[in-house]
Formats: sequence, C-alpha cells, structure tokens
Amino acid sequence: MANLFDWVNERAPNLAPTFRKHMTEYYAPKNFNLWYYFGSLAILVLVNQIVTGIFLTMNYKTSALEAFNSVEYIMRDVEWGWLIRYMHSTGASLFFVVVFLHMFRGIMYGSFKRPRELVWILGMLIFLVLMAEAFMGYVLPWGNMSFWGAKVIISLFGTIPYIGPGLVEWIMGDFLPADATLNRFFALHVIALPLVLLLLVVLHLAALHEVGSNNPDGVDVKHGPKGNRWDASKPLDAIPFHPYYTVKDLVGVGFFLLIAAFIIFFAPTFGGWFLEHDNFTPANNLVTPTHIKPSWYFTPFYAILRMIPSFFGTAIWGVIGMFGSILMLALLPWLDRGEVRSVRFRGMGYRIALAVLVISFLSLGAVGAGVTAELIPEWFPGADATTLENAFGRIMTLAYFGFFIFIWVYTHFGLEKTKPVPERVTMHD
Ligand code: HEM
Repeated sequence: MANLFDWVNERAPNLAPTFRKHMTEYYAPKNFNLWYYFGSLAILVLVNQIVTGIFLTMNYKTSALEAFNSVEYIMRDVEWGWLIRYMHSTGASLFFVVVFLHMFRGIMYGSFKRPRELVWILGMLIFLVLMAEAFMGYVLPWGNMSFWGAKVIISLFGTIPYIGPGLVEWIMGDFLPADATLNRFFALHVIALPLVLLLLVVLHLAALHEVGSNNPDGVDVKHGPKGNRWDASKPLDAIPFHPYYTVKDLVGVGFFLLIAAFIIFFAPTFGGWFLEHDNFTPANNLVTPTHIKPSWYFTPFYAILRMIPSFFGTAIWGVIGMFGSILMLALLPWLDRGEVRSVRFRGMGYRIALAVLVISFLSLGAVGAGVTAELIPEWFPGADATTLENAFGRIMTLAYFGFFIFIWVYTHFGLEKTKPVPERVTMHD
C-alpha cells in the first residue's frame, strides 16, 4: 500500500494535499447539532439513487409499449429487482425529506448569509435540477399518474404567451405525452441531469470549503480566538472534519438507514405517498385519474399554482406564483439583510415569521395533496368544500409570500431587535 501511495504521489503530488485540505485539515465549528446531518445524508441518498438507478436501467425498457411491463418484470422476476426499485423510489422521497430539512437548517441558522450566498445559490440550483430529475423519473414507469402528471406539468408551459403551445409540443415531441416524451425523459433522467447534479454538488461543497461552515450559533469561528489543539493557527472553536465529523455523520447514517430499511421492507408505498396507487395502472390517455396530483414533495408548489386564479384570460399567474415561490427562496440572501445569522439571537418577529413559513408550507402541501379536500367535508359538513379549501389555500399562499415580504421590510428598515451574539460558540466542552 505504501509503495502504491508513493507511486501515485510521485505522479499526482497535489492529490493527497487536496484530500487533506478537505478532510483532516478542514476545520469545522465544534458545535454542529442534529441539523448538520442532512448534508452528508443528501450525499448518501444521491449515491443510492445513482447506484440503484444503474441496476434499474439494466432491465427497464424505454418504450411506451414496454415501460410499464418492464417495471412489473423488475418487481416480480428480476432477482432482487423489487429491492432495487423500492430503494430507488423510497430514496427519491427521502431525498426530498433530507433536502427540505437541510434547506430549513440553512434558513434557521442564516447559513445563506454573507459569505455563503454562493453556497446557497448553488444549493437552489441543485434543488431545481433535483425537482426536474424527480419529475422525469416519475414519468418513466409509464403508469397512469406518470402520463397525466407529465401532461399537466408540461402543459403549464402552454400558458406562456405566443410561444407556449409550440413549446409544449416541442417538449413532448408529440401532441400528448408519448413514446418520444418517454425516450427524451429517460435520456435526461439517466444521464444528463445526474451529471449536472453531481457537478453542482461538487461546486456546492467547494464553495462551502472556501468560506467554511456556519453553525447553530451563527458565530464566525474564523474571527474568534485561535490556538486550536491540533493546529495552533486554526480557530479554537473548530475541530478537524476527519475523524470527528466523519464519525459523527456515521451515527446519522446509521439512524437514517434504519428508517429507510423500515420503509423499504415494511411500507414501500408509504400508504400511497411514496408510490401512488394510480401509478399501478398503465398509462391511458382516455382515462383521467380521479385526482391528478404530483408526488408529495411537489404539493406545496402545486397548491400555489392551483390557488392563484386565472385573470385577464390567462392562467399564467399560477405558473408565475409557483416558480416565484422557489425564486423567493433563492433571493433570501438579498431579502434578509439582518446582521444576525442564527434564529437563537434574532428578534421575536423573525421567529414568528419562520413559524408562519413552516405552517404555510406544510398547509400548502396538504392542500396540494388533496388532504384538505378530504377533511373539509368531514370537519364542516354542509359547507361548500371548494370555497373553504380555496380560502384556506389562498391565505396560506399569502402567508408563504408574506414571510419574504415581512423579512425584507423587517431587516431593511432596522425593525429587528436582536440579542447580543456571543464572541464564541455557546458550547465549550
Ligand atoms: C443533492 C443535494 C445536496 C447535497 C448533497 C448537499 C450537501 C451538502 C453538504 C455535505 C454540506 C456540508 C454539511 C452540512 O452543512 O450539512 C452542505 C452545506 C450547505 N448546503 Fe447543501 N446539499 C444539497 C442541497 C442543498 C440545497 C437544496 C440547499 C439550499 C438551497 C443547500 C444549502 C446549503 C447551505 C447553506 C450549506 C452551508 C450550511 C452551513 O454551513 O450552516 N444545500 N450541503
């Protein structure tokens, strides 16, 4: 091994120092909590999706005639095919669970603020590509919800003035989602988008390592006292990423794998949330599912789309609202100009606004998933369910956008009363 290492080192002398720079010599704040697990978990899920995806591709048939049956074949006849598929489908949902929590951590601790704006923007690009990747993957089994989901989402582009209808036909390669659509989605899902995703994740981490990690106190450990036990030139409140955080992250991986295994082995469809019932029937352009709805992770954005009514004879406002809700997140570093990063030391207004953001996001998710449509007639018998749902959904849409407007006003006009931020992280053990 030593000889091999020397051999490589002679030919690529920068490799080992680069590795060291990002592991043993990457000093991270010592006060990371549970919320800091989700970055490494996102990498784990990404790797899972790529590996299981490769094995699925070995038996999947990219054709509107064969796709559905090839997936059934994977489930029933291919050795361990069911496991590979359930790992991939569960992985897709868990990817979003992990990424939503990862993003929320960033908002909670102000990790998007200077000097980490680039880390945040790259994260938002990852999020966009991830959504495209998940949407296209969902179309591949060519179930009935695959077909109608593709129809609804691609048709959104039809609301763009002038070029809309032509654009829809161009994206589909036909007048309906069809064989051509399936083939191009396969190409994008299996190779193009994963490559982009991998590249973005590398850039995301490179950008983070340029400036260093934030932490639950939002304190700049780099500006704090030096004199680290391992390297006196490094901050006192930081520890080497390897072995300390590699070992800590492994604990998170252990818990995460337990949960994932439980879902994969005992509840792979997760009651129709991770694999929808309507997708177990083949695509049929003559039979619309009773409730067309996207996978759960798209439902908050889908609810915004549905809750904004058409006016001036066009439905484009809903589409603008939906994309706008994602754009707002990307703009956070410029909307929130508060000096203090972590929610621990921010004003009461910010804390309340953050709670409103979470409540509105979850409520919109429930509206988009049809939960409110089911519950309202039960809870308010005799009431006009559609009117009530629209009222609720619209209030929640306003609350969601309200968060961003409030934060802008609150921090631009100096209305926030923050607590004093300590010099060092609050954990000194
Ligand atoms: C494939 C998806 C993603 C992967 C693999 C990934 C990976 C990581 C990793 C490993 C870290 C360092 C560990 C940690 O702080 O948890 C990190 C940090 C960070 N990520 Fe991501 N990330 C992903 C998506 C996102 C998204 C969608 C956003 C937000 C838009 C985001 C925003 C951030 C921020 C702000 C940090 C710095 C956090 C801090 O220092 O407090 N990431 N990411």
